[in-house]
Amino acid sequence: MAAGHGTRMLSEVPKVLHPVCGRPMLHWIVAAAREAGAGEVVCVVRPGTGVSDALPEGALAAEQTEGEGTGSAVLAARERIAAAETVLILSGDHPLVSAELIADLAATHGREGAAATLLTTEELDPAGYGRIVRAPDGGVERIVETKHTEGVAPEHLATREINIGAYAFDAEALLSALDRVTETGGERYLTDVFPLIRESGGRISAHPTRDTTSAMGVNDRADLAAVERLAQERLLTMHARNGVSFTAPATVSIDAGVEIGEDAVIDAGVVLRGATRVGAGAVIGPQTTILDSSVGEGARVLHSYLDRAEVHARAGIGPFAYLRPGAVVEEGAKIGTFVEIKNSRIGRGAKVPHLSYLGDADVGENSNIAAANVTANYDGFEKHRTTIGKDVKTGVDTTFVAPVDVGDGAYTGAGSVITDDIPPGSLGMARARQENVDGYAERAKKKHEG
Ligand code: UD1
Ligand code: MG
Repeated sequence: MAAGHGTRMLSEVPKVLHPVCGRPMLHWIVAAAREAGAGEVVCVVRPGTGVSDALPEGALAAEQTEGEGTGSAVLAARERIAAAETVLILSGDHPLVSAELIADLAATHGREGAAATLLTTEELDPAGYGRIVRAPDGGVERIVETKHTEGVAPEHLATREINIGAYAFDAEALLSALDRVTETGGERYLTDVFPLIRESGGRISAHPTRDTTSAMGVNDRADLAAVERLAQERLLTMHARNGVSFTAPATVSIDAGVEIGEDAVIDAGVVLRGATRVGAGAVIGPQTTILDSSVGEGARVLHSYLDRAEVHARAGIGPFAYLRPGAVVEEGAKIGTFVEIKNSRIGRGAKVPHLSYLGDADVGENSNIAAANVTANYDGFEKHRTTIGKDVKTGVDTTFVAPVDVGDGAYTGAGSVITDDIPPGSLGMARARQENVDGYAERAKKKHEG
């Protein structure tokens, strides 16, 4: 917001839908309002921007179809405001406003019996903000806008106390004053209601704060990056207070919805996105990305990439594993180096330690899949399943041409291409027998020397 910043996002995405720690800006504000005790949440939106379709569950949209300016925006929600007693107004582009500060604002408003209360601060560069003009009784008399400075008195330009843009209002006082606000340069300013409310005998209180993160507005991507950094710090602090260790906190990136259990360790270079859940005592990283997946208690995931996967308690993943959607790794199982698993269930205690691809497969408990096993799950038209029972031991370089079934306790020979089912306890061998050609090297040499 400070002078010198750009004022545009240069984006196809509406500003308030840009994500901060994976969650749209607007959702942060709605969550903070709810946490502070808001009953109904109404978002003023411009028609056709797509914002109303992206509101958080339960939030109502009020379309601003006429008028410009913050006052017109508020009037777009007139019906919802008229139905309320006290209204809090927050800006959609101030994602770091905290629930605590909103609750404090509402508490000051109630305690002072004010008709309106606004958040103010002296901690920011005041350029461009509305400046607070105090009344002799200590209340607020009016706000002088300084976006354009021509004609603004020097005493107001010298004022440090600014309007952050978060307010509590008596609903009736707000609407009756707004109806009387006249336009300035084609806009109806919300901040013009204050002298009108005073004239009608209402008190305007200020709630000063030093919490400048709550006051941070996003106008361009530099602001967005600054907000992202602060939000990330806030999230990490929250997880750390809940008993999570961060070995290299500056290198991790965690989305707002992620849950992490007590005593988990998040190592360097970890990215946790979406609805990811990490169980107590799990160790994640270094260098691991997890999207919308769950990792059970005491599991270890290192140098790996997980996307919509499910890893159960005490399982071990990596280094260098790739778990794709539908991969389920049951308790104590192990997925090792350069292994890719897709839409497959790896049973309790089973092991897939090296260089394998399992797609559309079920592997029973305690089976051991040797190095470089591959399911040929796709015939060019359809996907087929491979079912491997429990306590199976496959040889290295086994290919399973699905659909195929391997019974409990069976074996496969190294280098086999398994196309037929293997009964329980049997050995499936599917490769040419070895033949040794005696004296071959000697004959080849003679032939070459002519
Ligand atoms: C406003 C305040 C200013 C305060 C500053 C804090 C007014 C007149 N001034 O100025 O005192 O210091 O915020 O950041 O209110 N909006 C609409 N529809 C509109 C216009 C605005 O929905 O027609 C929304 C914007 O998307 C934004 C919020 O209202 O979320 C504030 O509007 P903005 O234009 O940023 O107001 P400022 O000029 O920053
Ligand atoms: Mg603004």
